[in-house]
Amino acid sequence: MATTHHPLGIDIGGSGIKGAPVDLTLGQFAKDRMRLDTPKVSSPDAVADLVVQIAEHFADDTGDSPIGVTLPAVVTNGVVRTAANIDSAWIGTDARKLLSDRLGRPVTVVNDADAAGVGELHFGAARNANGLVLVTTLGTGIGSALLYNGVLVPNSELGHLEIDGHDAEDQAAASIRSDDSLSWAQWAERLQRYYSHVENLLWPDLIVVGGGVSRKADKFLPLLHLRAPIIAAQLANSAGIIGAAWLATNT
Ligand code: BGC
Repeated sequence: MATTHHPLGIDIGGSGIKGAPVDLTLGQFAKDRMRLDTPKVSSPDAVADLVVQIAEHFADDTGDSPIGVTLPAVVTNGVVRTAANIDSAWIGTDARKLLSDRLGRPVTVVNDADAAGVGELHFGAARNANGLVLVTTLGTGIGSALLYNGVLVPNSELGHLEIDGHDAEDQAAASIRSDDSLSWAQWAERLQRYYSHVENLLWPDLIVVGGGVSRKADKFLPLLHLRAPIIAAQLANSAGIIGAAWLATNT
């Protein structure tokens, strides 16, 4: 029986590189994901070696299907412009060219939060949402995706808004809650300051909160008071892989 081939999504983060073939009719992994530790020196070549390893692992499931790759970075036309939690050697690298040369297949490279936003839009908490949707990922930093009537406005970088003289993610990221031993209520105060500021600038119709901490949304979302509904993401840490595979297939 002929195997159905699926696009491959790969999410590159500061601690792990995770990939899985994605069934885009269901919006879920077609096979269990593979995770490799991000190398200590996460240079483009070192990371590319692991991306190749993941692609080879899923060769039978993906065939010649496109590959979507996320990075914790601003990415314009496949070129990396910033680097958060990955080696600064990425800045200026044409990641699309590097990875498609190494893999011999078309590769789409996008910001990690943008991919997560697209995943939530098509298969998760923002399914069928119209108007302006803001998806934020709360993790080591704060990532953001802006989607207007289903179209992604890439690289919004709203984690770096300056609020009260600070880079917002240095005050309100999920990592700060544990680093500073904040209670849920103390952290929620910081989130309230952050989301109300963003809300006054952009007036989103819906706010989705992602990242691993979204699994504990009941501890902090009820403490937030905003104009727009603010809800937990549904795809947790799969959103980036699923969104990357969707973007690789649809752009
Ligand atoms: C980076 C963003 C990234 C976010 C989440 C921020 O520090 O600037 O590009 O999306 O972290 O990883």
